Amino acid sequence: MVELLPSILSADFARLADEVAAAERGGGTVIHVDVMDGHFVPNITLGPPVVKSLRKATRLPLDCHLMIENPDEYIPAFADAGADWVSVHYEACRHLHRSLELIAHHGMKPAVVLNPATRVNLIVDILPMVHHVLIMSVNPGFGGQSFIPFSLEKIRRLAQLRQEMGLAFRIEVDGGVAHDTVARIVQAGADLLVAGNAVFGAGHAERDARDLLAAARKAAGE
Ligand code: DX5
Ligand code: ZN
Repeated sequence: MVELLPSILSADFARLADEVAAAERGGGTVIHVDVMDGHFVPNITLGPPVVKSLRKATRLPLDCHLMIENPDEYIPAFADAGADWVSVHYEACRHLHRSLELIAHHGMKPAVVLNPATRVNLIVDILPMVHHVLIMSVNPGFGGQSFIPFSLEKIRRLAQLRQEMGLAFRIEVDGGVAHDTVARIVQAGADLLVAGNAVFGAGHAERDARDLLAAARKAAGE
């Protein structure tokens, strides 16, 4: 089943609870929270205090995408704040296996993220540990960028590996998910669709989430 994960990066932060509620009414089932530190990526966003507030504002799972250096140092704080899923970048983890174990140890669902230039084959050995793999289809740091087409091949490769290895991890895609790209993304094998600009960019989160999810479901034959 495909799911829509509205990314609050493009929401109005002064009205965050209302924005999240609108995206949920439009069919969003997990809230995607982009955490940026100004070091791993050239932008700064938010951290555990905002996650804590979001936790009170919605019952939906909070998917925290950590675009930060030294993520291990902050995993306990995200757990305390109420994060449900936590993903760390392959490129930011010196000991990825340890980071994933730490996330699971704190009762959250662990996931690994791959930047566009990072090959899927590098994570084969840790696939049995993850709840999902996040394929970045833009270079992380900003919303509203264009989808990088070769991401589709990475999604297909991952779906193939999942089948060959008899695993059940989910495949998440983040960056440039929009009306003109969503069908190809779903058909390649992705089932967790992150969308920021396409949901919040025009100020009609409920309507735009609903339309995007309808297009995704149609492409998935659901
Ligand atoms: C980018 C973030 C994304 C971002 C996607 O670094 O990880 O989650 O919100 O934005 P759109 O959907 O606008 O490409
Ligand atoms: Zn993200």
